[in-house]
Formats: sequence, C-alpha cells, structure tokens
Amino acid sequence: MSTSMSSSPDHFIAPVHTPDIAPVPVTFLMCSPKLYDVNYVINPWMAGHVHDSSRTVAMAQWKRLYEAVTQLADVVLVEPQPGSPDMVFTANAGLEHNGVVVLSSFFHAERQGEERHFRRWFQQAGYTVLSLPRETPFEGEGDALFAVDGSRLWAGYGPRTSKSSHHYLSEAWKIEVASLHLIDERFYHLDTCFAPLEGGSVLYYPPAFDQASIMQIEDYYAANKRIVVTEADALRFACNVINIDRTVILNEVSRELSDQLKSNGFRVIEVQLSEFLKAGGAAKCLVMRLSGATH
Ligand code: ARG
Repeated sequence: MSTSMSSSPDHFIAPVHTPDIAPVPVTFLMCSPKLYDVNYVINPWMAGHVHDSSRTVAMAQWKRLYEAVTQLADVVLVEPQPGSPDMVFTANAGLEHNGVVVLSSFFHAERQGEERHFRRWFQQAGYTVLSLPRETPFEGEGDALFAVDGSRLWAGYGPRTSKSSHHYLSEAWKIEVASLHLIDERFYHLDTCFAPLEGGSVLYYPPAFDQASIMQIEDYYAANKRIVVTEADALRFACNVINIDRTVILNEVSRELSDQLKSNGFRVIEVQLSEFLKAGGAAKCLVMRLSGATH
C-alpha cells in the first residue's frame, strides 16, 4: 500500500494498524556500488572528489562490508539505477519500523531521482510506504535513529532534513521524537555524528550539535554511557557504525577508540571504506535496517 500525503501535517495519514510481524533476524538493505561515482558536490566531503573514486576499489571495500554484515544479519539488495550514483547509501532510502516505511524526500535534486526506485522496492517487498511533501525534506535513517529500546526516535535537522518532518515521523509510529540540530556542514546527517548502541550507550561527536541538542543527549544518556569521539575520529566517520548486538562494524578508526569500544563490551570490525568517504559516507550509510515486510 502506498499513502501519499498533502502538504499539511493535518493530512498525514498514519497507518490505522501495524500488522503483526513474526520476529525475524535483523535484515539490512544494501545496494551494490556497480554504478557508484562522485558525480556532483552536495556535501563538503565530495568537493575535490568528482570522478575521483575508483569503482574497483569501492566494489572490493563494499564486498568486505557486505561479508561482515552477512556474518551477523540477513542482507537484501536493491538494484542500482543509472543516474543515481549515491543509491549505494541505502540509509537514505527512508526509515522503516514495524513494516512501515517513511520514504525519504531528498533535499537535493541530485538525489530525488532515487525516491521512485526505493519506493518501488519497498512496495514490492510488502511494506506500507508513506511519503512526505516535496517541500518537507527528510533523508531517512541518515537523519533518524531509534533509541535501542525503541522508546524514542532521535531525529536530526539542519543541513538536509527539515525540522518540520519530525512531526510526520512522530505521527507515523506514535513515538516521541527528540529533535537534534546539526550545526557543522561536515556532519550533515545525524548518522555521521551520533549512534545509539546496544546496552544503552551512545557514540557521538558533541561539536556537531547545538547546545540544546547536547543537553538532550546528556539528559538521556548517563555520563558513563557516553562515548565521546574526537574530531579526528569523527572525520573518519567513527560514529557511522553498524551495530548488531555486541558487534560494531565501522571504517578504520584510532586505536584509542577501538580499545574504548572493546572495553565497553563491543567486538569491533573495521572495514576500510575510503572510496565512500569521498562521497561523504561510510559503514552505516551503506545499510538500512529493516524489521520485516508485511505481506
Ligand atoms: N553523497 C551522499 C549525500 O550527500 C552521501 C550520503 C551519506 N549517507 C548517510 N546516511 N550519511 O547525500
């Protein structure tokens, strides 16, 4: 089913019921970098890297990531499409929870062409797909991350996602949304600077947020649950982690940070993702978490 919404939040039609879903192992949506390239500049990472990434190296790096993820979870694939070189970053397809997907409404025209491909994929897989108005940018799981206990949704806004989209997210799942303001263009998606982790800890880079957002994070996570990332590690996309149970999969980071994660009880799998950093993405951007379809 697909539900389109008009521009007024009042017309947002939340699903009347959420279908029962049998517990399934965690599944991730990925997209092969067969057609990956840096074709345009829509974030500071892409500047100076247009057509500067190697598809061969990107493919090898992506395959290592794919193998690491498939050791711990199921992976489903969406076919890459000509003209959508950033489609490999499936975290931006939308946000899914309980069989309902809120599809992304990309801020930049360069990525808007991806929307119909992702919509088709979700519909064919049996998800209920909700759409936002064009004038309400929302960039999916790149900017919206559930607390691990599911009690709230952390949602970023500023460079890409608009704050006005958060209301729709709250309506879609009847969930509390904590809005976090991103103030550093280098950390233009929430998943570049913030990661809720299993066991109730959080990995984050405080200077990416305004003061009120830092206070929200610090009110929620006790001091001993906060893993603060240095600027050097943040620039290695250290917050951009795939967390499956007690394992974290991420780009190569400092020895100090990987030791800190280990002493917090995590198994750390580092995968070199340099070709994707040229487009402004790393491990977490290359996957989208799915809880299950509704058919
Ligand atoms: N080039 C892509 C963009 O600027 C990278 C997306 C990274 N994705 C993410 N979830 N942070 O949109």
